[in-house]
Amino acid sequence: MPTGDWNTSLYDQKHAFVFEYGKSLLSLLDPQSGESILDLGCGTGHLTQAIAAAGAHVVGLDSSPAMIEVARTTYPELEFILADATNFSFPATFDAVFSNATLHWVIEAEKAIYCIAASLKSGGRLVAEFGGKGNVATIITAIQQSIRELAHIEVSPGWFYPSIGEYTLLLEKHGLAVQSALLFDRPTTLEEGENGLRNWIQMFCASMFRDVPDTLKDQVLHSTEEKARDRLFKVDHWIADYRRLRVVAIKE
Ligand code: BEZ
Repeated sequence: MPTGDWNTSLYDQKHAFVFEYGKSLLSLLDPQSGESILDLGCGTGHLTQAIAAAGAHVVGLDSSPAMIEVARTTYPELEFILADATNFSFPATFDAVFSNATLHWVIEAEKAIYCIAASLKSGGRLVAEFGGKGNVATIITAIQQSIRELAHIEVSPGWFYPSIGEYTLLLEKHGLAVQSALLFDRPTTLEEGENGLRNWIQMFCASMFRDVPDTLKDQVLHSTEEKARDRLFKVDHWIADYRRLRVVAIKE
């Protein structure tokens, strides 16, 4: 998650694509009535609710107190747990672990995979999608160059964007047999026209701006927009260069 907690209303209003795109991952999960499913990184709980609507018993887990609070208020009939993706366990195992747009925030990926594997029944499935190698590379490079030029500091994004090879190796190491792994471009239209990119950066990239003096932040944003414009601005809106890693793996 970003530095500090999430702005949940901004997240739901302006970045609804996060769970809208998640619906296609939900089809891949294909939740069945009576199954027990963990929604890892459930955010405000919209996909958790969709899993429950299929008749599954679902638990939503997120490390953000703000997200969990909104999820509990919006869906009081569902179970939501505040916990870290690198340090969780349950008394009973699940038929499936589902995770949409979360695992790239988890730098200690192997710890999360350990917890996922331990939470699955034998034969249970992991269905996950998150940012893969090269995700938002144009945006990251433009921010880094702008901060270097204007503030003379080096910053790195706090995300883990693995390749197929890197991630599947970790899954196999923890007894998760990989059925499919796909790395694909998913250009993502940002809302708010000309302001779309700076809004996205302000929502998701706070950690890269931590040491940038307040007096320079606006210039950095402007410079980032100009560096990324040729590749990412189309007519009247920004298209972020998302690249997803989608995996399905079975607990041996
Ligand atoms: C993603 O879903 O790929 C993503 C979301 C926020 C920041 C960076 C990447």
